[in-house]
Amino acid sequence: MSVLQLLWMLVKLVPMPAVVLWKLLTTLRAPYNKNRNFKRIICDCAFRYVASALTVPEIRAYAGTTLGVYTTWAKKAKIPPIVDEIGGGARLLWVGPKRLGDVILFLHGGGFAMPPHEPHLLFLHHVRTEMERKRVTPGIAMLNYSLWPESTFPTPLTQLCLAVEFLLVAGVDPQRLQLVGDSAGGNIIVQLLSHMLHPHPSVPVLNIPGTLRSAHLISPWVDLRCCSSSWSANSGIDYVSKEGLGWVGARVASSARSETDRIFIHPILASRMWFSGLPTLVSTIRITAGEKELMVDDILALADILREHHGNVEVVVQEGGFHEDMFLDFLVGERTRGGLMEGIVASLVSGCAT
Ligand SMILES: *[C@@H]1O[C@H](CO)[C@@H](O)[C@H](O)[C@H]1NC(C)=O
Repeated sequence: MSVLQLLWMLVKLVPMPAVVLWKLLTTLRAPYNKNRNFKRIICDCAFRYVASALTVPEIRAYAGTTLGVYTTWAKKAKIPPIVDEIGGGARLLWVGPKRLGDVILFLHGGGFAMPPHEPHLLFLHHVRTEMERKRVTPGIAMLNYSLWPESTFPTPLTQLCLAVEFLLVAGVDPQRLQLVGDSAGGNIIVQLLSHMLHPHPSVPVLNIPGTLRSAHLISPWVDLRCCSSSWSANSGIDYVSKEGLGWVGARVASSARSETDRIFIHPILASRMWFSGLPTLVSTIRITAGEKELMVDDILALADILREHHGNVEVVVQEGGFHEDMFLDFLVGERTRGGLMEGIVASLVSGCAT
């Protein structure tokens, strides 16, 4: 980033205090903020401002790398970093001990263009400690996948396939493997399901000897065109920005070469039969969304599509919730609200064999 670009970024941040204060005063009593405390509401206002004032490349320039964010957090948390190079430009980053009994494989979000941020790691660490309190001891690994613009569809899908294969070869039982992904990470998990039903010609075939235990989609981004009515209705309420996501969504989706690619990228376009056979791939699917998030219409529409073929799709809509709401709680250092976290932990616990 040049000095000029940096200056321009700073100029765009000048109005921030005034705008944040105004937004704070005008939304403090909004019904959707009923369960949020003051600190969290300020943080939402600040995040909302940054997400709409800065471009994706500007934010990316200061977001570091996946490995960097992971090692910085591990040092702070005094947890030894454990890294598996799995080929294909991808890695597994273990959050806590590498255990191969029950395994949670996590795909971070960030619009396909951003590395994880610290709340992703705080979330995973919280999941691990809460599960251990309930006497289950999963291994938790985050996939370090390539980002746009350095790489494009279907590279992250190929890397997810490599990760699953790596775990299977290491002896993990598919029935003890749970996939969790937020936002774009949720999209990549749905791409994996599409690929297992309709192998993509540019991605190695993935043969899983058995059925995966579960897929957890946290506010999955399932239509990169950003056009359903919740994208307008909840604009300015949700902290992510329609323009920012629309900008990156259009670029990520531009690598689609065929109608099939478009279904992989926007699974909401799937025909009625596309997901037929889903129950043989994964035993349970759990989807969460925020009532006030931009993506909520798309997420519920995808849930309906999956339910056509799968009897075990649980959907939880958090009242007044924003996009992957609990990550902001972790950012602020708040206790997570609305039972969203408890629900995820309970469901992951019930997916463990130990
Ligand atoms: C890890 O993530 C970064 C993005 O943060 C990406 O550029 C890189 O290709 C990924 N994989 C490896 C092996 O570094």
